Amino acid sequence: MSEARQILVTSALPYANGSIHLGHMLEYIQTDMWVRFQKLRGNQCIYVCADDAHGSAIMLRAEKQGISPEQLIAEVQAEHSADFADFLVDFDNFHSTHCEENRQLSEAIYLKLRDAGHIATRSVTQYFDPEKGMFLADRFIKGTCPKCGAEDQYGDNCEKCGATYEPTELKDPKSAISGATPVLRDSKHFFFKLPDFQAMLAQWTRSGTLQEAVANKLAEWLDAGLQEWDISRDAPYFGFEIPDEPGKYFYVWLDAPIGYMASFKNLCARRPELDFDAFWKKDSGTELYHFIGKDIVNFHALFWPAMLEGAGYRKPTAINVHGYLTVNGQKMSKSRGTFIKARTYLEHLNPEYLRYYYASKLGRGVDDLDLNLEDFVQKVNSDLVGKVVNIASRCAGFIHKGNDGLLIDANPEPELWAAFQSAAPSIAEAYEARDFSRAMREIMALADRANAWIADKAPWALNKQEGKQDEVQAICALGVNLFRQLVIMLKPVLPNLASAAEAFLNVAPLTWSDLATPLANHKLNAFTPLMTRIEPAKIDAMIEASKEDLAATEASTGNGELKKDPLAPEIDFGAFAAVDLRIALIEKCEFVEGADKLLRLSLDIGDEKRNVFSGIKSAYPDPSKLEGRLTLYVANLAARKMKFGVSEGMVLAAGPGGEEIYLLSPDSGAKPGQRVK
Ligand code: 2FM
Ligand code: ZN
Repeated sequence: MSEARQILVTSALPYANGSIHLGHMLEYIQTDMWVRFQKLRGNQCIYVCADDAHGSAIMLRAEKQGISPEQLIAEVQAEHSADFADFLVDFDNFHSTHCEENRQLSEAIYLKLRDAGHIATRSVTQYFDPEKGMFLADRFIKGTCPKCGAEDQYGDNCEKCGATYEPTELKDPKSAISGATPVLRDSKHFFFKLPDFQAMLAQWTRSGTLQEAVANKLAEWLDAGLQEWDISRDAPYFGFEIPDEPGKYFYVWLDAPIGYMASFKNLCARRPELDFDAFWKKDSGTELYHFIGKDIVNFHALFWPAMLEGAGYRKPTAINVHGYLTVNGQKMSKSRGTFIKARTYLEHLNPEYLRYYYASKLGRGVDDLDLNLEDFVQKVNSDLVGKVVNIASRCAGFIHKGNDGLLIDANPEPELWAAFQSAAPSIAEAYEARDFSRAMREIMALADRANAWIADKAPWALNKQEGKQDEVQAICALGVNLFRQLVIMLKPVLPNLASAAEAFLNVAPLTWSDLATPLANHKLNAFTPLMTRIEPAKIDAMIEASKEDLAATEASTGNGELKKDPLAPEIDFGAFAAVDLRIALIEKCEFVEGADKLLRLSLDIGDEKRNVFSGIKSAYPDPSKLEGRLTLYVANLAARKMKFGVSEGMVLAAGPGGEEIYLLSPDSGAKPGQRVK
């Protein structure tokens, strides 16, 4: 092999205020498979990431939970790290943008840009919340759409009629944080002069760094002329203060991509063989790739290369963009149970099933990828269990029983072996080009050939005939060697299956170059099943659990859609009065068989009995203790059908979640059925 390449790879930094779901996971799995392929080929490939920890959304969420932003981001980082590790996403470093390395790099880059004349300042007029004492980003302003008159629309666009507008055009604007009427106020802002880099970007975006569809989209923006980019925010803000500018902070998107550098720098301090400058200085001969989703192309393919250029650093070798995930052909939906958190998936299914399914559907393009759950079960069972693992399980027994586990030196079908050898370069090319679906197709075509050949030779029949034992051993030796080839080729996608196979094959960790030489005169270890079939019931359970997650979110926050709008918007009295809020007596409270998070509550609400499933089990391990207690109940919430029955309404609780969920109770003397006034 030619000299090892030095490659630095990143995935987009997830925000530190929410859980990782299967949509996020598409990108991390895609990147991880590519990184593992590079490592398998003997290249030096470093994969870094971090939590994206700054911004007003994180500041306000922490405030709402009654904790510091530092505490919130530490908790989220622990959750994210565990999710990634359990999905076998093997970062060399998973850091945070709220770190000293990032502060220093962000300041240094800003100062270089400023000193080179790429920063402008001017006054900007914006809505300001006089009660909260802060400027309001567009998504924290709500009001009536100036075009269609729909109420309760965000500050920059109307979800009803699709109109886009300036927040100042909104009628009857209100702060979504405090409910106060915002006032217009001026403030000095800092701008990065993106137009200074127009010519460089026009050339760079057409130099093979981007997929064609992405370059075409960018060309539209470039043709329209680039605008200066506002990189400052006023206090209060959770982020880094701008040097020499007290009370002004870097906008989260300024320091987020610098977080890629910071995470790598943090790693360099632990791994002396890594040289920060070798990866970030110009013309270093190293490679830099960012994997991102199509929604954040402008930040990565315009702002970021311009910042790097202006500050004297190298630019990315390529930006690899993917599409969105749909589930069963539709946007992920909480009520359908297809908004599946990484952890919920892991509680039901093997991560390698999803890794393989994503690989089988991921091409080079920016098309959306559909996780069709029926197809998922069918493909994983048929390809991985039915084809790949089947080869080893068909052959291993004969080698153990017939030759004491010793795989002999034999190649009874040189053409078949040669076909595997000659397919390898094309499969490697597909991996290199991120055309995972082609790689999987070609690997499965080889698995089909191996299975067809073994079926044709039928060692199980030969084994019953006298004098055919050597032939059986030769067939099975080749069978196991073909299995080993497939394992090597699938190793970037299925690292756990590969290590279980390495244990069975009794070999050191396999690399791509091991494809060249078969095992011969080699003792195998006992064969244990390497992967089991997906049971469709597990899928149903995962969907139900995702619905339960929604119930649990509702129980702890009272707002299942919290992620979209981190703050409860103001409502008028009519909307509040429409809620039929009553005192309920918990007559019976019990576990729900097969549900991890739910309790079943039988309620007496005065003139009626109601059945409610509530996601509060984590806080009430002994449900009988709730029996006889009064609580608050929403009686006119639409009923929700769940696997365990119909949930009629909702009981009210507060708290961050987990053990800290507190069911609300009225003072003594209240009676079931009384309405809240
Ligand atoms: O869109 C997002 O989820 C951002 N947190 C991605 C940041 S990527 C990078 F620039 F840091
Ligand atoms: Zn409208």
